[in-house]
Amino acid sequence: MKRHSSLSHAGVVSLVGAGPGDPDLLTVRALRALQAADCVVYDRLVSSDILALIRAGAYREYAGKGVGRPSAVQQSINARLFALAGQYRRVVRLKGGDPFIFGRGGEEALALEAAGIAWEIIPGITAATGCGAYAGIPLTHRGLAQQVTFVTAHRASAEGGVDWASLARAGCTVVFYMGVSEIPTIEAQLQLHGRSASTPVALVENGCTPQQRVFCDTLEGLASLARQVALQAPALVIVGEVAGLGLRPLSALIPGVAVAA
Ligand SMILES: C[S@@+](CC[C@H](N)C(=O)[O-])C[C@H]1O[C@@H](n2cnc3c(N)ncnc32)[C@H](O)[C@@H]1O
Repeated sequence: MKRHSSLSHAGVVSLVGAGPGDPDLLTVRALRALQAADCVVYDRLVSSDILALIRAGAYREYAGKGVGRPSAVQQSINARLFALAGQYRRVVRLKGGDPFIFGRGGEEALALEAAGIAWEIIPGITAATGCGAYAGIPLTHRGLAQQVTFVTAHRASAEGGVDWASLARAGCTVVFYMGVSEIPTIEAQLQLHGRSASTPVALVENGCTPQQRVFCDTLEGLASLARQVALQAPALVIVGEVAGLGLRPLSALIPGVAVAA
């Protein structure tokens, strides 16, 4: 990719992770960036409680992925970031979770760099670690899980979309992002590749928000559980022995946060 030798825009773009929902999970640095921003471009999964922390008077623009081809939508977001960096000194690109975990942060950083625009990254708590914590599921645990893998289930049904054999090993926690519509495939493929039908699983919907719902079962019952509770995005599917520990942190007991075994 061609890179410009000198920076031609005055503005700096900060790619900021908003975490999984609870504003208390923002980093101090992310909060400072929101309070110093001249302009904030935010995604669909950023909660209204977090948007409320943006400096009064800052220009705000919604850039959630809606209809249209994802690549075309991404190009138009990049173009908006270029334009806004020409207009404002401190532009915050605010994304759910961590910008570099299934957040297209890398693509935006490459585009900004190629356009000669100064940028920085402020990491956030990704959904897997935030939802695991609030649901009482340690993603690694001595004797149960020596390994954790974050997987996008976006193309799980496609040929070669997911390396099922590597995820089917016992002792590996697997966290599927964007997996709600692929739950029957996850259940079938993991068992087909040797993961035990009795492996504990958890579904975490709207994790780290007052609407959080957590449901636990075993791998063979995953799809019927999701149907029964009418699981909605955003949700994570956590597969692994750690999902059976049955821990109940206070975060799972606050009013409005349901935990069902
Ligand atoms: C495009 S990915 C963005 C991930 C984000 N960059 C991160 O680090 O968490 C969106 C997916 O993340 C998961 N997700 C994000 N926030 C969530 C939440 N509060 N509860 C459950 N899952 C969440 C869902 O699987 C959702 O489909």
